[in-house]
Amino acid sequence: MSDPAAYTPMTPAEARKLRDELGKKGKKLVFTNGCFDLLHAGHVRYLQQAHALGDALVVGLNSDASVRELKGPSRPLNRERDRAEVLASLRAVDGVVVFSDKRATGLIEAIQPHIYAKGGDYTPESLDPGEKAALDKAGTQIQILSLVPGRSTTKIIERMTSSEDKAPPLRLGVLGSGRGSNLRAILAAIQDLVLDAEIVIAISDQGDSEFLKIAKAAGLPAHQVHGGANPNRFDDEAQKKVARLLQEAAVDVVVLTGFMRILKSPVLDAFPDRIVNVHPSLLPAYKGANAVQDALDEGELETGCTVHLVNAEVDGGRILAQARVPIYVGDTAAVLHDRIKEQEHKLLPQVLAEWRRA
Ligand code: GRF
Repeated sequence: MSDPAAYTPMTPAEARKLRDELGKKGKKLVFTNGCFDLLHAGHVRYLQQAHALGDALVVGLNSDASVRELKGPSRPLNRERDRAEVLASLRAVDGVVVFSDKRATGLIEAIQPHIYAKGGDYTPESLDPGEKAALDKAGTQIQILSLVPGRSTTKIIERMTSSEDKAPPLRLGVLGSGRGSNLRAILAAIQDLVLDAEIVIAISDQGDSEFLKIAKAAGLPAHQVHGGANPNRFDDEAQKKVARLLQEAAVDVVVLTGFMRILKSPVLDAFPDRIVNVHPSLLPAYKGANAVQDALDEGELETGCTVHLVNAEVDGGRILAQARVPIYVGDTAAVLHDRIKEQEHKLLPQVLAEWRRA
């Protein structure tokens, strides 16, 4: 008995009819194609972007046989009927046409869409020559859309099949006093699945800092620890409290992102070689709190950022990674610092991701 809820895919002729009807009204049909085996957020966003290029979106869905041919014998995970039904239920999708060839050339010839959307690293030149020729012949405009990083069916399958012997996510304790842009970058890397970690605690000495606001908005356990009267020091009580909080949270790695107090015992002893700091210079040059201005004042043509291990010597621990940043004529410390931070936001998550694999 057939399932009454199942979706009946469009025929190529129906898709062509839709195209012609839209065309008469001065509207545009967008077409894209793919396997859409295990639908994820990357697909959904891609299809929304594709839809936004015109007025209606038709998706060419590879049949089970053609997915097998493209991806290997273990795919697809879901049958074409189910894949079509799930796809068609999306707000961005107006119709799904199943096709059996490896390439969508025949379907492009039949539908003659106004716009063709393709994802990923393609350029109009690197498209399949058959598809490209069919698109050119139909006068179709080609649009390449960028894919959402970290989201792919292949990666989801990898994660599912390797989950048994996989180490749990790295537990991070992040400390900061200022704007919190590095905290934001770590959160984004976790979201994008390029960093297998979770932030289990965020600590600041500044109750009204952006850092703490970002931490709270992200739902992280966030704490303010008062450092005592001297703004550059962290008194003994504060050191003990931070050590206790980090230990209670079972932190694997402590990450200092613009934490303006100097850590010492018992924090350093509790996390030997497990505290990293990001610093806005190419250490060992320009240690200390004015590193960006100091590099400008010296007339340097280049500076950068460093991720290093933290020990008792301020900005003196083992260097783990560095990135270079040019200094331009007319740079102010603020402009230069923002340029340095762009690099920090890549370098710090990268070091933490590599930690995971070490
Ligand atoms: C960064 O430039 C870092 O190198 C320095 O403090 C700054 C923190 O920035 N130690 P943010 O609070 O992460 O935006």
